[in-house]
Amino acid sequence: MRIAICASEGAPYAKSGGLGDVMEALPAALSRIPGNEVVLLLPYYNKIKYNSRYQVEKVADFRVRLGWRQQYAGIMKLLGRQDGVQVYFIDSEYYFGARTGAIYGDMDDGERFAFFSKACLDTLDALGYIPDVIQCNDWQTALVPTYLKAMYRDTFPSTKVMFTIHNIEYQGWASANFFDDVLGLPWEYRGCMDMNNSVNVMKGAIETADLVTTVSETYARELMYPYYAHGLDGILANASWKLTGITNGIDVNTFNPDTDPALPAHYNATSFVAGKAACKAALQKEVGLPVKPDVPLMVMVTRLAGHKGLDLLCYIARRLMWETDAQLLILGTGEAQYETFFKDLANQFPDQVAAKITFNLGLASRVYAGGDIYLMPSKSEPCGLSQMNAMRYGTVPVVHATGGLKDTVPAADENGENGLGFTFQSYNADDFMAALKRCLELYSQQPDKFRALQKREMEQDFSWNKPAARYMQLFNQMCSW
Ligand code: GLC
Repeated sequence: MRIAICASEGAPYAKSGGLGDVMEALPAALSRIPGNEVVLLLPYYNKIKYNSRYQVEKVADFRVRLGWRQQYAGIMKLLGRQDGVQVYFIDSEYYFGARTGAIYGDMDDGERFAFFSKACLDTLDALGYIPDVIQCNDWQTALVPTYLKAMYRDTFPSTKVMFTIHNIEYQGWASANFFDDVLGLPWEYRGCMDMNNSVNVMKGAIETADLVTTVSETYARELMYPYYAHGLDGILANASWKLTGITNGIDVNTFNPDTDPALPAHYNATSFVAGKAACKAALQKEVGLPVKPDVPLMVMVTRLAGHKGLDLLCYIARRLMWETDAQLLILGTGEAQYETFFKDLANQFPDQVAAKITFNLGLASRVYAGGDIYLMPSKSEPCGLSQMNAMRYGTVPVVHATGGLKDTVPAADENGENGLGFTFQSYNADDFMAALKRCLELYSQQPDKFRALQKREMEQDFSWNKPAARYMQLFNQMCSW
């Protein structure tokens, strides 16, 4: 099958979050399936352009029409990718070059990604690559299905489009005149884009895509409720016949405690007791905590954003430090209020708390490996990847039972049996505290059971094999229509 994937970020080239990880591993997993040909289209951000590791070859250029504008686009083919995925970067100095440096956050993001979405279709045309399916992701590439149906049907007579929602919070809102001024779509598409007299490009994709997916089964169900859907619950309920949840995997080759070059000691599901102990001691030393093998080390690798459940942690943090001897290590950057809170907490409890306010992939690996308990109390979580990274490294997750956290961390009982971690149902700090205490109790009172739980986690298959097969089923289903 000929597959084209369009995304605004993809690791290792450009990544701001989980979408970037998925766009590294999913194309690779699909291209491993015999008979597939996979093309991945990404913007040519400066940090890719000026990174000498990424050698490219220019294969074409053309102009993209956006309303009254005509904007240059160059297609750069990445050389030397080993796994068969054909990566093309779309070059526009105007939209992706001379910018702030962050991937998102410019005043004209709407126009930038409208350009990218349209340029993706022009690129496939210029390459003579007529895919059976196009898979596009989040609001940034949400215009692909609408442009295809409205303006590119002659070029792609039978190409089907899947739209995947990784996060519904960001929908691509713009004022009503964006429709004529930038999008330049035929008037009959105004209705599908319109929401509250504004343009909402994600709504357009939900209506025009052949199938819609999201990144876990539970999140697909949650999206029927206003609490989770950020205004799109009605639209998604109407589209529920074409909405499916496919839980993400993780890249089990990159995230492998037996080979990860960032770790001071390596281990697997049989050698983890000694391996993790060595990693824990080294981590405690690295972050300036007392090296204590028997004290539980709770860790979190996260963007310091409200919806990651940091308000719950802040609420219980001091109580937790007074009532237990556990250590807490936070790694991440984000909102100033949380950065300040955790720095203050580390000052108040220097023997128990370390706050590393930085983005550091190597340290992240060492945290997954050296921790005993992984905290992820997210308010909502479409899928979440780091709880799977943590389990792959034998670190027991304590999570809010929502979205992908619910699907990937089935609740263990108080003996640590029958599940993979500790969960709480209500988004409430006392419930979080209770789950955490159950986990701490198991750690100190029944260490054998705690180890059995760790082992079970390490033996899970979190690879992309099963999710990629699910994507293929849906691709085949669309193609049969
Ligand atoms: C978004 C979601 C996260 C998900 C990721 C990859 O970042 O917030 O839950 O894991 O996309 O699909």
